[in-house]
Amino acid sequence: MALRDIVVDPNPTLRKKCRPVEVFDEKLGKLLDDMRETMNHADGVGLAGPQVGILRRLAVVEVEDFYIELINPVIVKKTGTQDGPEGCLSVPNKQADIKRPYKVTVDYQDRNGTPMTVTAEGFIARAFCHEIDHLDGILYYDYIEKQEKR
Ligand code: NI
Repeated sequence: MALRDIVVDPNPTLRKKCRPVEVFDEKLGKLLDDMRETMNHADGVGLAGPQVGILRRLAVVEVEDFYIELINPVIVKKTGTQDGPEGCLSVPNKQADIKRPYKVTVDYQDRNGTPMTVTAEGFIARAFCHEIDHLDGILYYDYIEKQEKR
């Protein structure tokens, strides 16, 4: 495993729409291992492909004992709302309160390409939404700017 450099805002890489992962090989496994190590080293709870310069639809999330690799994730169900503080390893030393769904269900593939479904609530649901947004070039503070424009 190896640490990867984290892309820091502003950088156009963070604003790109990522393409699906199509090849499930050893290289993908190595990338995911590196992303987990990089996230842990930076004390984060999630890391998405673009944050390490990979414009593919994949992310890792780790909250306490819960670890997941989300490949080609799609939110298929959202319920409720929550407000809470959010930060991002690509936007260092900043935080803001962001409204998110309370509970989400996500269809995704694991590192072998096997289709899976996961349902999470609270902080993990927030992390899923945040990381999946990264795959479409969205950063959490975009929501604040939207609120302010209203
Ligand atoms: Ni982030």
